[in-house]
Amino acid sequence: MARRYLVAGNWKMHGLASDLGEVAAIASGAERRPDVDVALCLPATLIERAARALPAFAIGGQDVHAEDKGAHTGDIGAAMLSDAGASLTIVGHSERRADHGESDEGVQAKAAAALASGLDVILCVGESLEVRKSGQAIPEVERQLLASLPEFEGNPSRLSVAYEPIWAIGTGLVPSLEDIAAMHGALRQQLVDRFGAAGGDMRILYGGSVKASNAGEILAIDDVDGALVGGASLKSADFLPIVEAAPQS
Ligand code: 13P
Repeated sequence: MARRYLVAGNWKMHGLASDLGEVAAIASGAERRPDVDVALCLPATLIERAARALPAFAIGGQDVHAEDKGAHTGDIGAAMLSDAGASLTIVGHSERRADHGESDEGVQAKAAAALASGLDVILCVGESLEVRKSGQAIPEVERQLLASLPEFEGNPSRLSVAYEPIWAIGTGLVPSLEDIAAMHGALRQQLVDRFGAAGGDMRILYGGSVKASNAGEILAIDDVDGALVGGASLKSADFLPIVEAAPQS
């Protein structure tokens, strides 16, 4: 099965109703590349409005609770995300791991809950600058991935991994193309070891300072099946050229 590119935007804690026009512009521009899956993971407050306005476009959440409902003030369960119109969610973003003390086990439970309720998942992993400098980035991210991956038997395109080196997020720094290739190759092997042939069909996205000027060369790397884009996903003028940079499949 050929893997389709997935270019997903993560709006993080950005976006008001006045920004819904950008979501619409992105959805409309994405139609120029029907061979690429495009999604926007919006703040929870915008999901329902965006999904209602753009029923054919993939809108996602940025986090989900491991339980469907209960006494968890401020949290959102997978059924709630689906109910609001989301078709996917990010789990395990390094900002949540850092700001909210999320563990690999907690991320694994969130991923499992999201998949079980029908949401597609983008599971994030990535090393700190300290780990990168120590030369241990690959074994550390492999360990993180194995500890965070849920059991899964469905369509492999529903579970994607995003490799996001923490030191590359929002900094303008990007690993060398060789380092990205080495990491993605290692993660592919882990997925195949864990899921067999299905692991070969799961997508591995790169995230961290992706922009129009570097997207083409990053997306051309073997085993880079898409991008998870933060800052450059907020404006259609920045994001659509990244979608267009995906090699033709
Ligand atoms: P930037 O693209 O702003 O570096 O953010 C990457 C990211 O964290 C996406 O989840």
